[in-house]
Amino acid sequence: MPLYYLSLGSNVGDRLAHLQSAAKALVPSCTGMRAAPIYETAPVDCPPGSASFYNTVLEIQTPLPPAELHALLLSLEKAAGRPSERSRNAPRPLDIDILATSAPHESHPALVLPHPRMTQRRFVLKPLSLLNADWQVDGLSVATHLAALTDDPAEVSQALADWLPVAEYPLTSLDGLAQRKKLGPPVTVLTAYDYPTARLMDEAGIDLILVGDSLGMVVLGLPDTTHVTMAHMLHHTEAVARGAKRARIIADLPYHSYLTPAQAVENAQRLIQAGAHAVKLEGGVSQLLQVQAILAAGIPLVGHIGMLPQSILEEGGRYKKKGKTTLGATALMRDAQALADSGVQAMVLESVVPEVATQITQTIPAITIGIGSGNATDGQVLVVSDLVGGFPWFRPPFATVHADTAGQTRQAIEAFIRQTLSAQ
Ligand code: KIV
Repeated sequence: MPLYYLSLGSNVGDRLAHLQSAAKALVPSCTGMRAAPIYETAPVDCPPGSASFYNTVLEIQTPLPPAELHALLLSLEKAAGRPSERSRNAPRPLDIDILATSAPHESHPALVLPHPRMTQRRFVLKPLSLLNADWQVDGLSVATHLAALTDDPAEVSQALADWLPVAEYPLTSLDGLAQRKKLGPPVTVLTAYDYPTARLMDEAGIDLILVGDSLGMVVLGLPDTTHVTMAHMLHHTEAVARGAKRARIIADLPYHSYLTPAQAVENAQRLIQAGAHAVKLEGGVSQLLQVQAILAAGIPLVGHIGMLPQSILEEGGRYKKKGKTTLGATALMRDAQALADSGVQAMVLESVVPEVATQITQTIPAITIGIGSGNATDGQVLVVSDLVGGFPWFRPPFATVHADTAGQTRQAIEAFIRQTLSAQ
């Protein structure tokens, strides 16, 4: 994924708010974002009486090519109130420049990269050096350019370190979850069961990968998740762990693998040894002893309440929406609260009435990850085959399908058959 360094500046109006809004607006187009501290700097070559600047540098990863990113940045400047006709050094609410990129780019007058003046500006080199001092510009590292800078008059004094209105994105540790609840952006979770899918997700910037026991149906062709075993889960968790370098991995404790607290801890430990960073089990109040035992053993745990696929037999073979009645909603809230009180940092809400999912999300400190539960949860999870159209025989109504891998695979198989037959 191409890497970009952007310089952001503001010296009109609420300078901090302008920089924060710009960073937040970029989030949906990025698969990763890191920010240097904001520095307050004296204006350079600006009209007399100009206010000082807030300056910073963002490192982003985005699939956008340079010209498209440039157009997006111009639209953000415009939205912040910067006139389209302006002189270079006029005071401005928001100024964003692409400094440099790893993406292929042929410079033209509207966009020369690396930015021609970036090595002359302390307010650019100082924050950039904190993100990537080794980045090469014109054959020298940022650190070398900064050390060589003697004639830039702009003072650079640090103003704000923790200014970015988004928490760690994408996640590199489960510790980032609590901040994501407060600051956003929403947490992204997909299931994966094999090495290539996990690797693609990791590279694309997914936060969490769930080795779900849904693998029973979408990979193994079993009728439901009650046939999935620890051996299945260990095998697929190991494969996913080989593919995911950064994304955190959650592995499901399968059916009847956590009947007692001691069994729950033993099997949770086996999944962690196979490469998971956390385990997930189904149930709230009914599973509190197992939940507490796993957490007490130092193993991070993700809860799962609402519709519980492992209880399909008790439910009479039907997957039912949860929280429709006052009694049902109260029971769900009690489950969520009990899990959160035990120290669970995140929980899946599956097929929960959206109003109840919203209420849970607003009440408990843990991250809620919804599936078929509306859009107001702190994150969303989807079975990967539902996302990429890989399992055409069943598709849940809430899933938005973004590809047709089953159709393309079928076409490729048919093409192979035709080619082989016609070669004879
Ligand atoms: O197994 C699974 O894929 C799951 C998701 C549906 C949340 O538990």
